[in-house]
Amino acid sequence: MRIPFIAGNWKMNLSLEDALDFIDSIKKDLPDSNVTETAIAASPLFLQSIIDHKKDSQLKIIAENCFYKDDGAYTGEVSPKVLSEIGTDYVIIGHSERRKYFNETNDIINKKVHAVLRNNMNPIICCDETMGRLQSENKIHWVVNQVNASLKGVSAEDAKNIIIAYEPSWAIGTGTSASNDDAQEGCYLIRQTLADIYSDEIADEIRILYGGSVNYKNVTSLMEQRDIDGVLAGKSSIDSNDFIKLVNYKKNQNK
Ligand code: 13P
Repeated sequence: MRIPFIAGNWKMNLSLEDALDFIDSIKKDLPDSNVTETAIAASPLFLQSIIDHKKDSQLKIIAENCFYKDDGAYTGEVSPKVLSEIGTDYVIIGHSERRKYFNETNDIINKKVHAVLRNNMNPIICCDETMGRLQSENKIHWVVNQVNASLKGVSAEDAKNIIIAYEPSWAIGTGTSASNDDAQEGCYLIRQTLADIYSDEIADEIRILYGGSVNYKNVTSLMEQRDIDGVLAGKSSIDSNDFIKLVNYKKNQNK
């Protein structure tokens, strides 16, 4: 069974003080992790403090990026080994903002995926699909290449520990989410690709998220889609009240 995964990605927002206040204010209102797994992706500057602060809560912690080497002369980089040491659960790899602003290629992303797995954390691999491509070819298929490339050399056993996120850059930060159908199509295509690489059984176990202007109002209909197992929310994860409504979407459904 794929447990829903609802995560916030703060990106380069919030001060340390705001971040700790946020964690304090959501701790007691999180759903049971057997029902919905919840997580926050934060700057490496905050991770240790957040991990200390969230003690005893079921909140999982995500790093927004890491390097592909564990240690060495790589000035300014974030070591996956140290992320693991401090208790980080997940690492986002290949976010479209990293691909766009930091020239991350599929090859680099593949190396990072291996680094995260090697250090006993779980990668959340992001796949993008540009609107230009979608409009010109009238179908979503770029994600197939990205999934194939990012999982090169990853064993079936390790693949069970990954999460994949379908995050079309044309929906990120715009306030307008992909339609339920487009989001489902992207996630479906990713699951088919996983089945081709591994097997139907493994593809069935891997959680696939949608990201791009998700909020507490549209999360329920997105989560109703067959291949969407969770969401990665940017802007709507910055306010703790919005985040609490987002992660408790199941409760709100019954009201
Ligand atoms: P927005 O929710 O602000 O569109 O950001 C989505 C995102 O990039 C999550 O990783």
